[in-house]
Parts: sequence; C-alpha cells; structure tokens
Amino acid sequence: MQIRVRSGGHDYEGLSYVSQVTFVILDLFNLCETSVDVEKKTAWVQAGSTIGQLYYKIAEKSGTLGFPSGVCPTVGVGGHFSGGGYGTLLRKYGLAADNIIDVRMVDVNGKILNRNSMGEDLFWAIRGGGGASFGVILAWKIQLVAVPEKVTVFTIDRTVEQDAINIVHRWQYVAHKFDKNLFIRIYLGRVKSSQDGGRTIHALFNSLFLGSVETLLPLMKESFPELGLQREDCTEMRWIESIPYFSGFPTESLDVLLNRTQPNVRHFKAKSDYVQKPISTNGLKGIWKLLLEEEAEDASMILSPYGGRMDEISESAIPFPHRAGNLYKIHYLVNWDEEDASERYINWIRRLYNYTAPYVSKFPRAAYINYRDLDIGVNNKGNTSYAQAKMNKVFRPSYHVGTTTGNGFMGKLNASV
Ligand SMILES: Cc1cc2nc3c(=O)[nH]c(=O)nc-3n(C[C@H](O)[C@H](O)[C@H](O)COP(=O)(O)OP(=O)(O)OC[C@H]3O[C@@H](n4cnc5c(N)ncnc54)[C@H](O)[C@@H]3O)c2cc1C
Ligand SMILES: *[C@@H]1O[C@H](CO)[C@@H](O)[C@H](O)[C@H]1NC(C)=O
Ligand SMILES: *[C@@H]1O[C@H](CO)[C@@H](O)[C@H](O)[C@H]1NC(C)=O
Ligand SMILES: *[C@@H]1O[C@H](CO)[C@@H](O)[C@H](O)[C@H]1NC(C)=O
Repeated sequence: MQIRVRSGGHDYEGLSYVSQVTFVILDLFNLCETSVDVEKKTAWVQAGSTIGQLYYKIAEKSGTLGFPSGVCPTVGVGGHFSGGGYGTLLRKYGLAADNIIDVRMVDVNGKILNRNSMGEDLFWAIRGGGGASFGVILAWKIQLVAVPEKVTVFTIDRTVEQDAINIVHRWQYVAHKFDKNLFIRIYLGRVKSSQDGGRTIHALFNSLFLGSVETLLPLMKESFPELGLQREDCTEMRWIESIPYFSGFPTESLDVLLNRTQPNVRHFKAKSDYVQKPISTNGLKGIWKLLLEEEAEDASMILSPYGGRMDEISESAIPFPHRAGNLYKIHYLVNWDEEDASERYINWIRRLYNYTAPYVSKFPRAAYINYRDLDIGVNNKGNTSYAQAKMNKVFRPSYHVGTTTGNGFMGKLNASV
C-alpha cells in the first residue's frame, strides 16, 4: 500500500488524500502544538498545526513578533512550509521556508532526523520543493520576525468605470519596487455594475503596511498616487488582527484562528503564473473579457507583488526559484457549486491560462508548487522520469478535482474529467 501524508489537507488536487492504488492516510492533525521562545525569537511548530494556530500562539506570547506564511488560517504547516508558503509579509521577510532553521523528520527507515543528523543537502531539499518526497515532517523550528505594534490595512475597490485597467497596468511597474514594508496585492473578479446592473470586473487593492497611517500616506502619494489613497480608507490594527482581515474571516474574535474548518467549501480549480514583464493594457483587456464569460461568475485572479526581500535571496538558496526578475505572481481560481459541471469550468480556466501564455514567464513557464495543478508535471504510473513529467499536458484524460477542506479530515472529492 502507498502512504499519503496529510497535515492541513489543503492540497489543491487532493494529493494528501487521493490515490489510484490502495493507500493509507497518515493524518498529522493531532500533532498541532507550538512552543514559542520569545527571547530567542524562535518557535517549534508541529506539522499538523494550521498557520492560524501558529499565528495565535505567537501573538499570545508577543505583540511584536510574527511569521511570514500564508493568508488563509486553515492551511497546514506540514504541506505549506514544504512548498514555500507566502503571505502579506513576503516582501519584507520572504517565504515561510526562508525562515525555517531546524526540523524533525521521520525517514523511510523510521529514524527521526534533525538538521544536524540529516545534513545540509536534505535540509535544503525539504524547504520549498514540496512535501512528501523525502519523509514525514513532524515539526519545524522557525525564526520569528519583528512586526510593529500597529500595522495599517486598506482595501480599495476600482471598477473599469473608475479606471481600474490603467491603475492595474500602473501597479505592475511599481508594486515590486515599493518600500519593503508595503504589500499591495490585487484581486480581480466579477461584480454587478453600479450603472446598469450588468456585469463588470473590479480590482480590489488589498494592502498591509508595516507601520502607521501617518507614514503610509506620504509614501503612497509618492509611490502610487494613481490609487488615490485617503486616510479614511485605512485602518490601524495589531498584526494578528490583520490575519482575519486578509482571509475574509470574521474579525470579532481571534479564536477563529484556532478553528480548522474552512468555511464555504466549494468545487474549484486553480493555476498560477509568474509575470516578468508588465502586461500591456490590451493584454489586460483580453483578461477582462474572459472574466466576463459565463463560467467566470465566481472566478478570480489574485496578483501578488514580489520584489523586496524576494529579490535578495538567491534562486538556489532553497528549492524555490522564483526570485529576482519576477514582478508578481498570478493565482487563477474558478469556483462552482453544481455537481457534474467540472468540465465547463476547468475548460474555461484552461482557456484563460492559454490566453495569458504570451504575457508570463517562458522556457519554462513557471508555476507555484503549492498551487498544485495536475495539468502540468504529471508522471505515468510505475516508473517516472523528469523528461516525461516536464511536458505541459493540458489535456490529460482523467484526474481528480480536490475541494478546499481544512478540517484535517477528508474533503469532498469528485469529478473525474
Ligand atoms: C483555502 C486555501 C488558501 C491557501 N492560501 C495560501 C496562501 O495564502 N499562501 C500560500 O503560499 N499557499 C496557500 N495555499 C496553498 C497551500 O500552501 C498548499 O495547499 C499547501 O500544500 C497546504 O498544506 P497542507 O498541509 O494544508 O496540505 P496537505 O494537503 O495536508 O499536504 C499538501 C502536500 O504536502 C504533503 N505533506 C503534508 N504534510 C506533510 C508532512 N508533514 N510531511 C511531508 N509531506 C507532507 C502532502 O502529502 C501533500 O502532497 C492555500 C490553499 C488553500 C486550500
Ligand atoms: C468553525 O468554523 C466552521 C466554519 O465556519 C463553523 O461552522 C463552526 O461552527 C466553527 N466552530 C467553532 C467552534 O467556532
Ligand atoms: C491556445 O492558444 C494557441 C495560440 O494562441 C491556439 O493555437 C490554441 O488552439 C489554443 N488552445 C486552446 C485549447 O484553446
Ligand atoms: C522500472 O524500471 C526498472 C529498471 O529500469 C525495471 O526493472 C522495471 O520493470 C520498471 N517497472 C515498470 C513498472 O515499468
């Protein structure tokens, strides 16, 4: 039998709980302790912990320490850190994997290894290349990072009528060059037009600034005046309060960070790209057109700026090569609720991916391993080879579509296409 290892169960293609042969799930959700050492600014976090639980435990001990990992609290640290792991602190501190300093891992012989006993090569390989290749991670030791007592957040909404295309176009030139303390990502998606109630696309500029409103306003005026940020758009809060803010979770109580159940579980398919040259306004208009199609009712694109700390880390420091030269990353996503409709939606996102091909990284067209996409990089059963797996197989005959889970148990699984 094969073994599937699951920590948070968030794999986009369900690889932690799907197999074509008889298998056993090794579910680590009960290993979810975190111990924080405030003086040394380090923590040991067990693999089954969610990042929400980790953030909560850090904030319990200190208001000025944080950790640069994902946005969504229900993601598990076992898979997430193994594949990189990024969120709103990316431009200041890099990835979760950049801030791992030690590990406990079980190898195939049942031996428990740490950084010292496994050696630097293996320790290199497990930070960013994807989990489940080398052993079972039991716990990570991480370097915590400094966050100010107050951070500032804002979300600015612009429709096409409000010049969204030009502002998004401009953002591509500046977002990777901003002060490291400033992270502005863009969410593109469908809304009803205020003018005639028809469909339109809006761009949400969603930002974390590691500092006060006073410092942010002049900085924005200088770096990105096109957005027209006003004081009343901004809210100051503790860093830990920005976690529910960015994930769209209720903000009344931080206890929501301890809840492993992902709300709004739906069918979805996602893809990713890296952008190295700004996309022309004509190129953007084509994207807008695709987002207005029937299947894109609940589709989105999230553009996350790189630059800052990401530019300073070499592409071979860990097995996460997307560093200097990348302006931003695109995360494509389509959601749906109907059963038996997967093919339509998946075809739509493939068409979008096909459309953007000329505008994104090439030779190879890069993707983020944590946004697992079985349209690329798949081996046949039995013997495997790099030459075969590197082929871009957009039209494979059959695979599974995972759905967001996050409760540490089996997610909804469906739809062979
Ligand atoms: C709702 C949602 C939001 C997300 N937001 C972000 C985000 O903001 N930033 C970001 O970078 N990514 C994000 N992701 C992607 C996320 O980083 C990946 O899905 C990640 O692999 C999830 O880790 P997991 O432990 O929850 O998943 P799992 O499904 O448990 O595991 C993922 C993979 O890692 C392997 N694995 C799991 N645990 C171990 C272990 N202990 N040892 C060895 N291998 C293991 C599994 O076998 C599987 O191959 C998000 C995903 C979802 C569903
Ligand atoms: C956890 O979150 C889920 C989904 O939002 C919700 O249904 C459940 O009531 C929550 N549990 C607790 C203990 O708050
Ligand atoms: C992808 O785009 C290319 C060129 O733009 C086109 O020839 C091809 O038919 C497209 N494929 C799909 C599946 O749309
Ligand atoms: C895999 O390769 C090995 C060595 O080349 C060979 O002996 C074996 O039969 C192959 N297995 C399959 C399933 O093709």
